[in-house]
Amino acid sequence: MKVDVLLGLQWGDEGKGKVVDVLTPKYDVITRFQGGPNAGHTLEFDNQKFVLHNIPSGIFHTDKINVIGNGVVLDPITFKREIDGLMAKGTDLTKNLYISKKAHLILPTHRILDAASEASKGATKIGSTLKGIGPTYMDKTGRNGLRVGDILSGFDEKYEALKAKHIQMLRMYNFEYDIEAFEKGLQEGIETIKMFKLIDSEHELNRYISEGKSLLAEGAQGTLLDIDFGSYPFVTSSNTVCAGACTGMGIAPNKIGEVFGIFKAYCTRVGSGPFPTELFDEVGENLRKNGNEFGSTTGRPRRCGWLDLVALKYSVMINGVTQLIMMKSDVLSDQEIIKVATAYKVDGEVITDFPFELPENLEPVYTEMPGWKCDLTNVQTEAEFPAAFKNYITYLEKELGVPITIISVGPDRAQTIIR
Ligand code: GDP
Ligand code: IMO
Ligand code: MG
Repeated sequence: MKVDVLLGLQWGDEGKGKVVDVLTPKYDVITRFQGGPNAGHTLEFDNQKFVLHNIPSGIFHTDKINVIGNGVVLDPITFKREIDGLMAKGTDLTKNLYISKKAHLILPTHRILDAASEASKGATKIGSTLKGIGPTYMDKTGRNGLRVGDILSGFDEKYEALKAKHIQMLRMYNFEYDIEAFEKGLQEGIETIKMFKLIDSEHELNRYISEGKSLLAEGAQGTLLDIDFGSYPFVTSSNTVCAGACTGMGIAPNKIGEVFGIFKAYCTRVGSGPFPTELFDEVGENLRKNGNEFGSTTGRPRRCGWLDLVALKYSVMINGVTQLIMMKSDVLSDQEIIKVATAYKVDGEVITDFPFELPENLEPVYTEMPGWKCDLTNVQTEAEFPAAFKNYITYLEKELGVPITIISVGPDRAQTIIR
């Protein structure tokens, strides 16, 4: 069997967690392949709501295997908090959650370095989630990092050596910190990780493939936050694109099957950085309110704007998307007119290729369409779609050249239409 990949096409928070949970019954194994607790993936079912940060979104289907892959960065402290929260609600994960020995560890000093770096940047800060993501991936590529497998022998010594190095680095910054507060819970977190099966995940995942098991790879963040292809430097520190699933799991490119590209029917961004179609008016406010657009990890209000086809076409291209999933169409229900950016105008020149940089004077060129002006949240079949909504879907499929196979009209598992 091949590995299907589900990943975000915008600036994250597209609804990946919800759809992975919906698709999990079709798969045997769900794997996270990059990112870490900067992610917040929301799942709603049976009047319950869960936000997952480290753990794959297949976890509530207890007969499925969930794997934290080698490309992920794992913070023992937030991991323990997440496990404790789920265990308290009656979900025992020790049987069906496995962790790659090659996943890198986020240490307390990585979080301090993240905070110090952001504070030193002032107005040009990235707007990081402050989970230590950047410094941990820097240690990985700088060949200094500690991995999950390191907790099995001589961890304390390795930890103290890297911590000493980080303390040296922190002297560069004029930043005050209380190291003991940051370290609180580290040992307990390490012990929690040890409760799980720590695996050579590249071998295990390839074995599953040869045994005929079906695998779904769950992306975190989104293509426009990718370290290579996103709106650099306002990005995260990992490859969020499809290629990241290969390196983050040890899967060869020819083993990739379907690529599910997920996007909101509009667009959001949290943190700093350019956002060409951002709305600063009452329409933006309405989207934030109707869509409950507040960060799942940090609670920050998300910036909202119209759908951007220049960016979306770029994301479809980079990822080789084979099926599109459109989320949160219900949030647009109040709009008389719906706008979609089809090009950018920069210094009088019209461009349709997502550029090297998104300059401040960039103006989106919009196409307008009539809104559907009705509640979609109870719609259960495609036959019930209003005509204006059908037009929106047909227009996007034609522009993007890829079919939209799943449409979500509300946060609950049940509010999903598979076409
Ligand atoms: P992820 O990071 O991609 O998993 O997305 P988040 O969980 O951070 O953000 C998506 C938010 O939208 C969550 O609060 C979901 O419960 C919610 N959501 C998902 N799909 C829909 C939908 O179709 N309509 C509405 N109104 N909310 C949705
Ligand atoms: P999910 O998986 C939305 C953003 C941060 C910041 C930038 C860098 O829930 O879609 P980092 O902490 O990674 O150094 O922050 O990336 N960011 C996200 N935005 N959803 C996410 O994850 C994000 N993870 C990071 O806001 O702008
Ligand atoms: Mg999220």
